[in-house]
Amino acid sequence: MRIILLGAPGAGKGTQAQYLMGKYGIPQISTGDMLRAAIKAGTELGNAAKRVMDEGKLVSDELIIGLVKERITQDDCQGGFLLDGFPRTIPQADAMKEAGINVDHVIEFDVPDEVIVERMAGRRVHPASGRVYHLQYNPPKNDGKDDETGEDLVIRVDDQEDTVRHRLSVYHEQTKPLVDYYQLEANAGNCQYHKIDGTKAVDVVSKQLSSLLG
Ligand code: AP5
Ligand code: ZN
Repeated sequence: MRIILLGAPGAGKGTQAQYLMGKYGIPQISTGDMLRAAIKAGTELGNAAKRVMDEGKLVSDELIIGLVKERITQDDCQGGFLLDGFPRTIPQADAMKEAGINVDHVIEFDVPDEVIVERMAGRRVHPASGRVYHLQYNPPKNDGKDDETGEDLVIRVDDQEDTVRHRLSVYHEQTKPLVDYYQLEANAGNCQYHKIDGTKAVDVVSKQLSSLLG
């Protein structure tokens, strides 16, 4: 199964990707996680992306498209994948199409901006695994520690309120047009499009996803 998770920053893409990976045994391709890993490793790619990400802007299409094309040809992606945070511009979606990378389902997470600003303030992440927590809505079993490894959780650099608001405006300008793009793709019979209410509790959203994906 090949799935695109589409939604604003903080809409719950990473959280539900963890659930879907476990349920369907397909890998999560999170461009944000890949870029953060590159920053940590100090690669050329990471150095190029760091300032742009910290400011809440988008990394260049060219760089991201290259990254995803390389990842998607790896063996573990041949049975399907979950795209989390990609595509997020029309040129990225076009590049995917031109490369012959088709998807079965596009899932749009609908969450109002004000809910997102509040969510981001409580987010804690485990960078090595991509697991995501929230102090109130999805707390770790032990304060400040990842459930599986016991390692420290961190706050993302781009989760400060003013950066979150900037990321939301970038989403509305550059990524929201993909809603129409993929609805047209669905009308043409190229994929299925589902819009879900991302304001419901984490497990309610997971149940809804599993019932629509089967
Ligand atoms: P990226 O890492 O992709 O960030 P994002 O899209 O902004 O999304 P987030 O990871 O912030 O949110 P999410 O939807 O995964 O929500 P989560 O599940 O964590 O990108 C970061 C940066 O990298 C970009 O700004 C850009 O610079 C660059 N980049 C990445 N991809 C790119 C691309 N394709 N092109 C160009 N640049 C790119 O949940 C958020 C919080 O809410 C958590 O605390 C969680 O526990 C909580 N939560 C989740 N679901 C619920 C729920 N149902 N109820 C209550 N709380 C919930
Ligand atoms: Zn995420």
